[in-house]
Amino acid sequence: MVIEVVLGVSGGIASYKAAELVRLFTESGHSVRVVPTESSLNFVGAATWEALSGKPVQVGVFEHVDEVAHVRIGQGADLVLVAPATANVLAKAAHGLADDLLTNTLLTARCPVMFAPAMHTEMWENAATQANVATLRARGHIVLEPAVGRLTGVDTGKGRLPAPTEIFRAALNVLEDRALDLTGRHVVISAGGTREFLDPVRFLGNRSSGRQGYALAEAAVARGARVTVVAANVTLPPPAGVDVVPVVSTEELRQQMHLATADADAVVMAAAPADFRPAEFVDAKIKKTPDGVAPQIHLVENPDILVELVAARTSKHPVIVGFAAETGDADATVIEHARAKLARKGCDLLVVNDVSDGKVFGRDDTEAVVLGADGSLIDVPPGPKSGLAHTVWDAVVHRLD
Ligand code: C5P
Repeated sequence: MVIEVVLGVSGGIASYKAAELVRLFTESGHSVRVVPTESSLNFVGAATWEALSGKPVQVGVFEHVDEVAHVRIGQGADLVLVAPATANVLAKAAHGLADDLLTNTLLTARCPVMFAPAMHTEMWENAATQANVATLRARGHIVLEPAVGRLTGVDTGKGRLPAPTEIFRAALNVLEDRALDLTGRHVVISAGGTREFLDPVRFLGNRSSGRQGYALAEAAVARGARVTVVAANVTLPPPAGVDVVPVVSTEELRQQMHLATADADAVVMAAAPADFRPAEFVDAKIKKTPDGVAPQIHLVENPDILVELVAARTSKHPVIVGFAAETGDADATVIEHARAKLARKGCDLLVVNDVSDGKVFGRDDTEAVVLGADGSLIDVPPGPKSGLAHTVWDAVVHRLD
């Protein structure tokens, strides 16, 4: 299906990155109509947008008045994406102003509307901007969290436009027509595998790639949530619109999860924290000995973060989801082991992956069973990790209300 995209471009330096977005949509066979603001033309001229989109470009409402563009463009769109969205355009959209073609289009659109804000950290954090973002989200618009990184000039911080490839993915996810049933919710997801260092160069790690955690994050953004991912050693590109908190060890993951979940509505522990860590960290690289005797490494147990999060919550809020990689054995089946684990951990849902024969880790597809503390069981057939992610959010939403 050809998607009719209206790409609003407002006046930030990141507007040059919108050129790649136009390409991503058009090369996937979709149609893009670029609607720049007047000030954005200081950064990228109309000729660039006309050449890339193959469509005329108009900024104000008083050109080609006979075509009633200020109404028609919004009416005909399947998606309105504003990238970059400045503090100014967010403010105008939140207050329903209509002084150019883009803001008129925002008022007439009946399709999903997504904003990818980009600005300096101070402007993003300003109470006025945050109130406008909250207003837009409450109305069912998707407002992506900006990325953290290099800003204009010498500054770095939160406010960077997410990578165009990730905005593109987020936009396509929104068009999958899921309900925006996580609007107004804050969800926290742990992803990846922790590393426990023995010395400056060696660590105990595991095979978790972070793919399932990132798929959960993408799906939650598409359903309207504010998303924080505490990411342990994940090397994948961060999904657009997500606050990513990088960590290395289980202890760091633990601290950041406790901080991030203070106001969370749902928590998903998709990470693989190491169960054990070396009892001591040796400051210098451990050397081989001339007599060939290998060192003995003494391990101590790490705290179970999931159990701590369950213990820290008040009543049933937030909803807490654990993951379990299980194998069956002579004593019990995978599901029997998992039911016992669900009871031990005390969480609301446990996503069970059967990892016999190296299944699941680092792969794009997965299969799982989602067990509920209420005795429910949802079988998720083999498929993409995004499919399992939506099944998990369906089950979470059911328990939020
Ligand atoms: O007991 P097991 O490691 O199989 O439990 C897996 C679940 O517990 C996962 O959700 C994982 O994120 C969580 N976990 C944890 N803290 C640990 C180990 C695992 O929260 N130290």
